[in-house]
Amino acid sequence: MQVGFVQFNPTFGDKTANVKRIMNLVARVNADLLVLPELFNTGYLFLSASELEELAEEIPAGATTRTLKRLAEEREVYLVAGIAERADGKFYNSAVLVSPSGDVNVYRKAHLFDEEKRWFTPGDTPFEVYDIGLAKIGIMVCFDWFFPEVTRILSLKGAEIICHPANLVLPYCQNAMITRCLENHVFAITCNRTGIEERDINSRLRFTGRSQIVSPEGGVLTQSGEIGEAVRVVTIEPSIAQNKSVTTHNDLFDDRRTDLFGDLLKSPIVLPATLSSGQMELERKSREIADA
Ligand code: ACM
Repeated sequence: MQVGFVQFNPTFGDKTANVKRIMNLVARVNADLLVLPELFNTGYLFLSASELEELAEEIPAGATTRTLKRLAEEREVYLVAGIAERADGKFYNSAVLVSPSGDVNVYRKAHLFDEEKRWFTPGDTPFEVYDIGLAKIGIMVCFDWFFPEVTRILSLKGAEIICHPANLVLPYCQNAMITRCLENHVFAITCNRTGIEERDINSRLRFTGRSQIVSPEGGVLTQSGEIGEAVRVVTIEPSIAQNKSVTTHNDLFDDRRTDLFGDLLKSPIVLPATLSSGQMELERKSREIADA
């Protein structure tokens, strides 16, 4: 299977130019699956709700999704692309999966990063796995990587490839994804954007590029540069991600001590409780000293 990414530097607010640039870049590529960056058509740094309202689109009715459908059909490629979505008066930082036959699925980013929380509603879609014939794929968007549960759930549901549109600004993700892939034995395609978005004197972000494809063994199969456009495609065998064995005696999924993992779904009340029981102990001791 041929999988890849299209890294580029979108211009904020210029959807026509951004979509056109992607059309041109994808027109030169042969691949079965391509991942584009988060919010690829709009840019990232919204300064007001009205800006988002103006740029967000319905899925699948909006112009960007319709163009992606045409592109997917023409190029016979599955596309995963980040789009600002408008739905029922709310706005989501979403990713679409568009198939060559015109099917559209949507994932809404669950973990919003920083100022995104001012404009977007946290995603309400489950972490879904899609069987696209050549592979089973899962989708997460950018900061979702910081929550290992997302990759884990997608992997437990059978994802062989994690498609990961991103607009990364912190320096950690590219290295961390190596561990995400290793601990789940899955492929991941992280498609980041590049460039600097400077909307006003207080709103400036530099995106870190270095889009990459990582193998289930944690190998970086390809990584682009920190700046500039890059289209990379590699050949992979997705089914190797189904093998979760680490040694003859270890299986990543079978070995999980789910009997000990119950606390995972609890709020972090353990630490304050421990501290306060420590404090209680201190108080008891000081009472003992005072009584003596
Ligand atoms: C991010 O989630 N765009 C950092």
